[in-house]
Amino acid sequence: MTELLKVNNLVTQFKTESGLVKAVDGVSYYLDEQEIIGLVGESGCGKSVSQLSVMQLISAPGEIAGGEVMFEGQNLLNYKANGPEMRSVRGAKIAMIFQEPMTSLNPVLTIGQQLTEMLQLHMKMNDDTARKRAIELMSIVGIPGAESRIDDYPHHFSGGMRQRVMIAMGLSCNPKIIIADEPTTALDVTTQAQLLELMKDMVQRFRTSLIIVTHNLGVVARYAQRIYIMYAGRIVESGTTKDIFSKPRHPYTIGLLKCIPRLDEEEGTKLVPIEGLPPNLINMPTTCAFLPRCSYKLDKCAREPWPPLKAIEGNHYISCYADTKEK
Ligand SMILES: Nc1ncnc2c1ncn2[C@@H]1O[C@H](COP(=O)(O)OP(=O)(O)O)[C@@H](O)[C@H]1O
Ligand SMILES: [Mg+2]
Repeated sequence: MTELLKVNNLVTQFKTESGLVKAVDGVSYYLDEQEIIGLVGESGCGKSVSQLSVMQLISAPGEIAGGEVMFEGQNLLNYKANGPEMRSVRGAKIAMIFQEPMTSLNPVLTIGQQLTEMLQLHMKMNDDTARKRAIELMSIVGIPGAESRIDDYPHHFSGGMRQRVMIAMGLSCNPKIIIADEPTTALDVTTQAQLLELMKDMVQRFRTSLIIVTHNLGVVARYAQRIYIMYAGRIVESGTTKDIFSKPRHPYTIGLLKCIPRLDEEEGTKLVPIEGLPPNLINMPTTCAFLPRCSYKLDKCAREPWPPLKAIEGNHYISCYADTKEK
């Protein structure tokens, strides 16, 4: 497979009155063509900021302070955030689908107006062609009676149907990459599963790649080929989905896995939440940020800096001194 996106050492921070928030602190990952990856971590660990940085959608007091976002041979960070190059990437080549469609859809415009706007702007379609394509896209994403619903407003749609509209918008310009940030978090489990299936089908049909961003490791289990686990602004473990689920090695990943129900475990197996809270990203210690919550910690962990990622086997990486395999 060919590498489509490669993020190297991305650093994004916010200068706030209470101090410097290191939301993304040296994050690296890659995405291959037609691949689905998962980016997983508790709320506030920097998932959204890392993705918004790829799109250069960070506004003051935030700034991208370092790193590279390589896409089609170019470092997107060399482009001006509001310049023509970045505008032709955003939405058209890399599309983002957000968690709460009610806030990303404009309540005073019809679904049709919002879908056709994208097609006219990026695909240069005329009114008629754009409308036909919008109806087609609505049908593709499973909105029944698309032709009669295209002139409805967002509030006429259920949460699940609105998220389908967002997926249709995401797909409208045949992007190379779709970034879905907590795409199903606000929905019930059945709708969640239907939408994830839909996104998987769309990835195959439109030959795109997909980044699923979620706080729920269970969500990506069936869909992602590889998973990146993020904690306090950094990637702490990455590997194939099989590696992460069958041989998790970072204490945080091990903790996350204990909080999700597993089909392959006996009924009645207790779900154990990770004790403690994620750290405040202001004025972070130089030691491992997971240390206060870690049940595998060694003396060394309190003395040495947060360890960099190291390969433990093939494409499986962790940033940890402890040997969790031994426990
Ligand atoms: N505009 C902002 N100003 C200050 N801090 C911010 C801003 N946006 C995000 N942050 C901080 O960046 C960190 C990462 O946020 P985010 O990427 O949204 O987390 P996640 O998506 O993983 O829940 C959080 O600590 C958050 O408080
Ligand atoms: Mg988020």
